[in-house]
Order: sequence, then C-alpha cells, then structure tokens
Amino acid sequence: MKTTKLKILRKEELEGKVCVIVGTRPGIIKMSPIIRRLEETRSNYFVVHTGQHYSHLMDRKFFDDINLPEPKYRLNTVKRYQTHGGQTAEMLKGIERALLEEKPRIVLAVGDANTNLAGALAARKLQIELGHVEAGLRSDDWQMPEEHNRVMIDHISELLFAPTEREKENLIKDNVKGEIFVVGNTIVDAVHQNLEVAKVRSSILDRLNLRPNDYFVLTLHREENVDYRENLEGIVESLRVISQKYGNQIIYPIHPRTKKRLKEFDLEGKARSTKNLRLIEPLGYLDFLLLLSNASLALTDSGGIQEESCILKVPCITLRKSTERPQTVEVGANFVAGLKTSNILQGAAKMLKAKREWVNPFGDGQAAKRIINIVEKESPIK
Ligand code: UD1
Ligand code: UDP
Repeated sequence: MKTTKLKILRKEELEGKVCVIVGTRPGIIKMSPIIRRLEETRSNYFVVHTGQHYSHLMDRKFFDDINLPEPKYRLNTVKRYQTHGGQTAEMLKGIERALLEEKPRIVLAVGDANTNLAGALAARKLQIELGHVEAGLRSDDWQMPEEHNRVMIDHISELLFAPTEREKENLIKDNVKGEIFVVGNTIVDAVHQNLEVAKVRSSILDRLNLRPNDYFVLTLHREENVDYRENLEGIVESLRVISQKYGNQIIYPIHPRTKKRLKEFDLEGKARSTKNLRLIEPLGYLDFLLLLSNASLALTDSGGIQEESCILKVPCITLRKSTERPQTVEVGANFVAGLKTSNILQGAAKMLKAKREWVNPFGDGQAAKRIINIVEKESPIK
C-alpha cells in the first residue's frame, strides 16, 4: 500500500542518529567538544555545516586546529545572501534537505547565530526532536539579532541545555515548553581541551613579538557596533585614547565584517595609523587562546570571548551596553562599558587592578559529556 506523503517525517521513519549543526566560528568551537564526545562514544551522528562562515580563517582553520572530522554536509550557497531572512531561509532549505536524507532522531544547535535558528526551524518543521545547547541566555536587548534567535530557538526546543542555574531561571520565566538541564557551557570543555595543545603548538607571541601580560587583545564584530558609522568611528577614537593612555599594544584580529565596514566608512586609514593598535588577520583557535591567555586585558563585543577571558582569568571590558553573560560581571571578571570613551577608560582602570582570583561560573569542562548522556537517555542513539 502506498503511504501518504506528509510534510513532516513520521516518528517510525526516524533513525537513531544525532545531527549536529555548525556554520560559524563560535559554533564550530562550542560544538567541538560535543563532536569529540560523539566520536569517543562511537555514536551514530553527522554534521551539517551551513556555510554561514566560509573564509578559511573563519572556518576550515578551526577544523584543522581542533582536529575535527570534515562535516558530512557542507552548504555553499549561503554567502550570496546578505539579509538575515535570506541567509536563514537558504540555510533552512539546505539543512532540511540533509535531514530528509538522513532522518535523524535529534538535531543539536548551539547558541544564537542565524545558522542555529535555521537548524532549529528545519528540525521543528519536520517534527524532529531539537536540543538547544547554550539555552536560556538573555541580553534583554531586542536590537540584537542574536537575542531574537535565542528566544525563538529556546521556545521550539524539546531539550534545553542551560549553562548555569541563571539561564534555567530565564527559561522558566519565559515559560518554555522543553525540558531544562543545567550542564555547564561547552566553551569550558573547549578551553580545557585546547589550551595545553596551544601552549605547545602556537608561536603567536614570538610571531607578534609580544611579552606575556604586556598587551591588550581586542575583538569587535557585533552588528550594532560596526554597521553604524558613528558607532564604529567612536570605537576607533576610544581605542586611540586608550592606546595613548596605556602605551600598550592592542592586538586586533579583525573580523571580516568589521574589515568590510572600516573600508566602507573610510575609517581603515585612521584605524591602521592609530599608534599601538595592531590590526592582524583573524587567528586560528590555538593562536587565539594563547594570545588571550597571556593578555593583560581583553576588550571585546564577543560572547565567547567574555566567557573565555573569564575562564582564563584575563580581565575583560565589554564594548556593549548589555551582556547575556552577567555571571562574568558578578564574579569580577568583566566590566560592561558600552561605547563611551570615558566608560571604557573607567573600565580599564578598574579591570587592570582586578585580582585575578574569580571562580569560573561556567562549569567544570564536562558539559559535552552530560549533554550526550542526556541525549542518549532521552532519545537513544543507535
Ligand atoms: C555571525 C553571528 C554572530 C556571531 C558571529 C561570530 C548572526 C546573526 N550573527 O555574525 O552572532 O557573533 O557570526 O563571528 O548569525 N564574512 C566573510 N567571511 C566569513 C564570514 C563572514 O567575509 O567567513 C563577511 C561577509 O561580508 C558577511 C559578513 O562578514 O556578509 C557578516 O557575516 P555574517 O555571518 O552574516 O555575520 P557575522 O558578523 O559573522
Ligand atoms: N576566536 C578565534 N580567533 C579570532 C577571534 C576569536 O579563534 O581571531 C575565537 C574565540 O576564542 C572564541 C570565538 O572565536 O571562542 C568567538 O567567536 P566570535 O567572537 O566570532 O563570536 P561570538 O562568540 O561573539 O558569537
């Protein structure tokens, strides 16, 4: 008898495998302990790479550095799409094709990039179970595309892997439907798994001729900071004032988005001629971990780097008006400065005096193991 074609996958059609979604630099890093764990437990799994990030230094370099297997599916049409909707739709279509082919029992998406919203929607629409790794973060800043994505993914997931009790509380407050598990953040696993390797393999300090604890690290790529001329110009000016005041080198591995905007807004010349501000290509994970771990201060608008600097006991100044990682502020590792020069200077003065004795609030480095144990129990991997 012919079965009726449905718009979803029937439960009995699904196979006992796990689908892992990656596609951006932080997603590759944060999923790497999960992929490693799936390899260790010889689980049936496959990876879909959405192609959101595609430049060698934003993508393949991380597979080499972290020693990850090549994803089974790699979408390559996404870079043509410039709007959030277009990008997300193209990834959704590509991920859906892979899911229809593989019929996994569960899809895992991490964090808040469009890649993960696309993966989450693809799973939900086929009625495949969805697990959100790094669930429950909230900046309460509704201008951020990441905040939209977090909220949407959390509301359509069955399994919510919250890094700490705080994110669990956020999820309860939001009245999500899925089951919540507090597991830690896989970024701790990633730092533990790669820092010692970095100490042996990376020569970044020698290459840049830097002494430990004698320079600042900067990263900057947030849409609300770099896509508006006045904001980006203000940040470049603040960096000029800070580098003048402290005389330290500020090392900036420049994100491709920011590189593009500096050119477009005619600010590249000013940035490149700012004394002590060193613009370099984006770094691989091993080089970046070593660079960050030896810095005296991190200045950043990155989510992952707020966490890593906290884990590595490097004081951090967040160049945003809010953070979805408030634990870093509470333990004394982070100062949320916004973009005003006076606030950034106040932050630098405070954070450079900080005793680097805080306790990392993001867990013990066993998050991936917990997540895979739960996934196995809730939805047996064959
Ligand atoms: C995305 C995520 C952001 C995350 C960041 C990590 C969303 C909404 N944003 O922002 O949450 O913090 O990744 O880095 O998903 N580009 C390249 N090569 C690349 C990637 C990007 O040249 O490999 C350039 C392109 O011009 C592209 C632009 O950067 O249009 C922006 O890339 P996109 O992936 O849209 O956003 P990100 O700023 O990277
Ligand atoms: N990172 C890196 N090289 C760089 C800059 C960042 O390896 O030149 C790593 C960093 O260690 C962290 C992650 O990229 O784990 C953060 O990614 P990003 O700042 O792009 O995104 P976010 O965390 O803000 O989403």
